[in-house]
Amino acid sequence: MRGRRSILKLLMERRSIRIFRPSTMRDEIAEMIVGAGVRAPTTTQLQPYTVIQVRDEGLRKAVADLCEGFEELVRDAAAVFLVCVDLYRVSRVLDLLGHNHVLKTDKHPVESVLAILDSALLIENMIIAAEALGYGSTILDYPLISPKEFAELFKLPRGVTPLILLCVGERGESPPLRPRLPLDIVFQKDRYEDVPDEDLEDYLKFMEKAMEREGYVRKYAKVNMKYLEYLRTKTILDEHVKKVNEAVEKYLRENLLKF
Ligand SMILES: Cc1cc2nc3c(=O)[nH]c(=O)nc-3n(C[C@H](O)[C@H](O)[C@H](O)COP(=O)(O)O)c2cc1C
Repeated sequence: MRGRRSILKLLMERRSIRIFRPSTMRDEIAEMIVGAGVRAPTTTQLQPYTVIQVRDEGLRKAVADLCEGFEELVRDAAAVFLVCVDLYRVSRVLDLLGHNHVLKTDKHPVESVLAILDSALLIENMIIAAEALGYGSTILDYPLISPKEFAELFKLPRGVTPLILLCVGERGESPPLRPRLPLDIVFQKDRYEDVPDEDLEDYLKFMEKAMEREGYVRKYAKVNMKYLEYLRTKTILDEHVKKVNEAVEKYLRENLLKF
């Protein structure tokens, strides 16, 4: 599908792709992507995740309907994977060992954080595998925000938490690299050094310029807003956000993610 690219080049050039040319994916390719995902490091071999590929057309349509603003992306992707944090299966495996195990407690923050971390490593491996096979991808976080709807749609048992959708497809756009903080802010030597406000302000300006140049907000959110204004609307603490967070917290606790 594509010539040789070194892994490092592939990592440095990856961008989220949100416009796909409609296509399908052969089962062997999907298996290769998920197969690469599960080779990621995993705590104690327990793989606290499950990946569900959305194959059925009606189901794909229902998933697209839950992803407001990204319906076309979900529709046109060659493959859509729902990644779930699955402490239900881990708990069942531990039950078989017959001991008083940690998932029976009311709080298990370590296992909860590690389960999410394991899932993230799986997802990144899948993204890189998809890139190596010539596909683009993007993560959508609707499952985390609307867990009940996704759990109902996929008939998930308690303890299986929908986390993200990974949409993989044939690139229909070639966006620029998106901005990142200067490396010396995130990569420090020997001790933690606080960043002066001016450096953070510089980064905000740099980010605003880069995102404006791309026309990011108009292209994907389809609103006429500057990037920083958009960032404010995405991160504002209002009554709606409080409600969503309360609902998500309750859902996570009921589903074994107990912090
Ligand atoms: C946990 C997570 C959730 C994300 N959710 C969404 C999403 O719901 N919609 C979206 O368009 N992009 C989503 N993204 C993609 C980011 O917006 C994207 O990675 C970021 O803008 C940087 O761009 P790049 O991936 O092209 O470097 C998500 C990324 C991560 C890591």
